[in-house]
Amino acid sequence: MQSREYAKLTNTFPLSATRHEPAGPVRTIAVTGGKGGVGKTNVSANLAVALAGMGKRTLLLDADLGLANIDVVLGLQPKHTLADLVAGRATLEEVIIEGPNGVLVVPAASGRRHMAELQPAEHVGLVNVFSELERDLDVMIIDTAAGITDSVLTFCQAAQDTVVVVCDEPASITDAYALIKVLSRERGVDRIQVVANMVRDPNEGRALYEKLVRVCEKFLIDVSLNYLGCVPQDDWLRLSVQRQQPVVKLYPSAPASLAINEIARRTARWQAPTAPRGGVEFFLERIIQQKVKA
Ligand SMILES: Nc1ncnc2c1ncn2[C@@H]1O[C@H](COP(=O)(O)OP(=O)(O)O)[C@@H](O)[C@H]1O
Ligand SMILES: [Mg+2]
Repeated sequence: MQSREYAKLTNTFPLSATRHEPAGPVRTIAVTGGKGGVGKTNVSANLAVALAGMGKRTLLLDADLGLANIDVVLGLQPKHTLADLVAGRATLEEVIIEGPNGVLVVPAASGRRHMAELQPAEHVGLVNVFSELERDLDVMIIDTAAGITDSVLTFCQAAQDTVVVVCDEPASITDAYALIKVLSRERGVDRIQVVANMVRDPNEGRALYEKLVRVCEKFLIDVSLNYLGCVPQDDWLRLSVQRQQPVVKLYPSAPASLAINEIARRTARWQAPTAPRGGVEFFLERIIQQKVKA
């Protein structure tokens, strides 16, 4: 691969020869959770489609490099994926496709072992490729893999906000705690947004959040948690997964759609962070540019 992208994948912090005007602050939000099957992909995809529906220019990145399925959930048939980008067969612009409500989607490849086994420097390289995306964006949502692997940690570290999805299963709370612990101790992430998914009622969502807060308070002093809301257990969502369409689009008045729209409205009201975090960060240059202008 000879593309400019390849240089970025192999160099941790290269200085690019051609610089473009920054497009403004972009909110970058990583959706994670530790455990598989808690609803990370559905929350990411529907949140992105909901934000796009609100007029936010939104990009949804499938960062589950091993078992990608954003394209399946949204019924898209991508020609290229992140695997082609990494192999130098496609540029980032060629990988981007349009989904429901005009959301821009960067699909990943499923079942490509080499993608799941990228080296830490290559994860940083991937982040750098996105840092120079030449599109005007308001929000970027990143759907991460399960677990606490380097790729998950790097994408969360690079994003301004991390949303942890939990559900009412003991393993979900313990895995979420393990993830928050590693993010905080190894990657300097000190702020976590929590979404309780598949809840029977709002009280259960709150209780789940409080359970997580109690474990974190006991063992982690330097992390603050914020409750972003809950999404009910909803058969309409399950049905929409089968139909390969986002529930917010297919069944807009379903309970899960109303809940995700509310979460999208809350997310859209967040203030942009004032300072970039050290290490890797999406759109680092744009943020620095903002600070210089301010
Ligand atoms: N709010 C919900 N209501 C009903 N089913 C849900 C909900 N959220 C997720 N699911 C079910 O759980 C499955 C796994 O969700 P997914 O988003 O793929 O999880 P993850 O990305 O965390 O592995 C979905 O296919 C869907 O059937
Ligand atoms: Mg997933």
